[in-house]
Amino acid sequence: MAHNVLLYESNRIMLGTLSNVIKSAPNCNLVASYQSHTDALGQGKVFNPNLLLIDVESQDATWLITEFRKAFPSAIIICMGERWQADSASHLVQAGASGYIIKPFSAVELKDTIDTFAKGGGLETSCKVMTFFSPKGKSGKTTLIANLAMSLARKTNEPVGIIDADLQFGDMAVFFNLNPSNTIVEAARDADFLAPVSLQSFFVPVTDNVSVLCGTRNPSLIDRVAIKDFETVVNSARSLFKYLLIDVPAGFNPTSISAAEIADVTYLVAMNNDGFEKQHIRKAISLFEEDWPDVKDRLKVVFTRVEPYGAEKSSELENQLGFPMEGILPNEYMLVSKAADNGRMALDIASDSRLSDAISHLADKIIRHQVRRDTL
Ligand SMILES: Nc1ncnc2c1ncn2[C@@H]1O[C@H](COP(=O)(O)OP(=O)(O)OP(=O)(O)O)[C@@H](O)[C@H]1O
Ligand SMILES: [Mg+2]
Repeated sequence: MAHNVLLYESNRIMLGTLSNVIKSAPNCNLVASYQSHTDALGQGKVFNPNLLLIDVESQDATWLITEFRKAFPSAIIICMGERWQADSASHLVQAGASGYIIKPFSAVELKDTIDTFAKGGGLETSCKVMTFFSPKGKSGKTTLIANLAMSLARKTNEPVGIIDADLQFGDMAVFFNLNPSNTIVEAARDADFLAPVSLQSFFVPVTDNVSVLCGTRNPSLIDRVAIKDFETVVNSARSLFKYLLIDVPAGFNPTSISAAEIADVTYLVAMNNDGFEKQHIRKAISLFEEDWPDVKDRLKVVFTRVEPYGAEKSSELENQLGFPMEGILPNEYMLVSKAADNGRMALDIASDSRLSDAISHLADKIIRHQVRRDTL
């Protein structure tokens, strides 16, 4: 459906910029643009717009949206602002707005935003979402995710996102030495109303291509993240990244189960210390098997700290589990600790180590699979 767009923007220069963006966006006709809201409200109707882009920072935002809603009862209203003000979101929704986009934005970002808010979601992207699940804590999961994300980004030059959904004891921020002003709590609070593209500002960049949505700063904030909102965050983030890696709390809990359900692939991660880990993994596999008929496609097993490290040990573990082994990581405690002390990745400190090799191998498998999927 073509959108007949009415634009109200109080800043003259921004009005010019956004007008050009709208004109070049697919399926968008800019039918009217105004620097004055009084003109937009008074004169805009003759152009029959069905989509309004409204600058909500120049006036009392709730009043403005109420007025536009009255004047254009059936149009979709998307608010625009240079900064996201979470406190006003619920008032704007009540007044009749469908969403919010941070400006300036590109034609593609506008199209994605309109698709989200006009059609009620359903973003078409080929992002691969991977959840990293471990039956017990201290499995090496966070170390694996961080290094794997770096490896995927370097090999593909594609954007890679990490979501730390270990809501109570998320340690990705510590791992990357980040002190985020926004975390998954704020993202979950705002995700419904915020354009997916604007969700990007909640992710903290750690390199050109890798960014992290950090976990809660305080374990007591866990209650602030509803599962439904967490799922909205993940789905919105699909439009931002080519690869999305999700760290979840150890064990079966609402967050880890929902992250596994929503992911394209779930990695079961365990440290190969003694016999218990294998039992835990076997039990976890059987629980997933009960729910997923296509378990072999959706579930991959990775053992960390495997010694002796090599193909022989990998097939031994495979036989013991009765399930294919996606990858094994060697025990590189010194390297991993040294990296953590320096706030760097093990991959960078020793690019020719066995650990880097193992991670690179895993990344290659993921990329190959994704390329096959994209060309289908
Ligand atoms: N391949 C490895 N070899 C040796 N030690 C490792 C390896 N990977 C991680 N470790 C060490 O194991 C400990 C746990 O690692 P990590 O924090 O990545 O695990 P986790 O599963 O995310 O733990 P948590 O349950 O606390 O979230 C850390 O001290 C880390 O340095
Ligand atoms: Mg962790």
